[in-house]
Amino acid sequence: MQNFDQIIQDALLAFAATDDPDALEQIKASFLGKNGQIPGLLKGLAKLPPDERKLVGAAINRVKEAVESALHARRESLRQMALAARLAEEALDVTLPGRGEARGGLHPVTRTLERMEGLFRSIGFEVADGPEIEADFQNFTALNTPEDHPARSMHDTFYLQDENGGVAPGILLRTHTSPIQVRYMQAHVARYAGAETMPEIRVIAPGRVYRVDSDATHSPMFHQVEGLWVGEQVSFADLKGVIGDFLRRFFESDDLQVRFRPSFFPFTEPSAEIDMAFMSGALKGRWLEIAGCGMVHPNVLRHVNIDPEKYIGFAFGMGPDRLTMLRYGINDLRLFYDGDLRFLGQFV
Ligand code: PHE
Repeated sequence: MQNFDQIIQDALLAFAATDDPDALEQIKASFLGKNGQIPGLLKGLAKLPPDERKLVGAAINRVKEAVESALHARRESLRQMALAARLAEEALDVTLPGRGEARGGLHPVTRTLERMEGLFRSIGFEVADGPEIEADFQNFTALNTPEDHPARSMHDTFYLQDENGGVAPGILLRTHTSPIQVRYMQAHVARYAGAETMPEIRVIAPGRVYRVDSDATHSPMFHQVEGLWVGEQVSFADLKGVIGDFLRRFFESDDLQVRFRPSFFPFTEPSAEIDMAFMSGALKGRWLEIAGCGMVHPNVLRHVNIDPEKYIGFAFGMGPDRLTMLRYGINDLRLFYDGDLRFLGQFV
């Protein structure tokens, strides 16, 4: 029996001597494992006379139970220690100063677009939208742009791939927002088919456009805002009035001049480029091209089943990226698209 108590003592000491759970299981094996001390004692029982066997057997079982319960107690206390250590390590110091959530803001070009929409809405324009992946018909054909026009070349326009890696015929990334003129007029004509009179069309269409082009003033993706006013008595004078008025309100200044330079677009006749210059300030006297425009070509109206003998209108395509550069004094267009928060954060 002396011997038995010694085993319990040894086990308690050995269990207490480690705080590593794996080592504890190793030590357990030397007492309770197949070749451990306690199974060894049980094997020895067979050699005892039957009357002693019962007594000794019961004593060995008590040893076994004592060692097992000491093992469970130690396992549990190691688990508690590990948990306490983890809690201490992962503790959250609620007294530390916060890292702060930076406040988000709108991209400067988005601000310009929203501003333009607000100003044009205030003079009765609607705001329309169209797909960035556009059909050749709306982007070129309906806009009176002939097959051999340079804008149609792979050089200038992003076409799409078909499944075999070839050029998918008839679809492209729109090169301007003018196809929305076509889509809007088609929908308008369809809506008023059979009606006695067709209401005027007065719409702007902001959006992204794509061209094979990249330098300080050209990005392969940029923005345009299309404008279209079609009615029975719309003139070039109205176009000049609308544009001049818009620019003065956009820049909140009367101290600017607007000039219309004769130009060419297949879908307008006559056509012009619109330039503007501030008459004071850092950019004083520097003319900058900000839009193309003109009177809608009769062929465009014919393509959408509007009678060019009865209706007339003007269209323009403005560059909101340029307007944003002018408004904030930015000299490199690419800054808008680098996604650098040090730059963008200045407009919040
Ligand atoms: N779509 C023309 C361009 O991208 C601009 C424009 C629009 C010109 C409408 C005339 C009328 O250059």
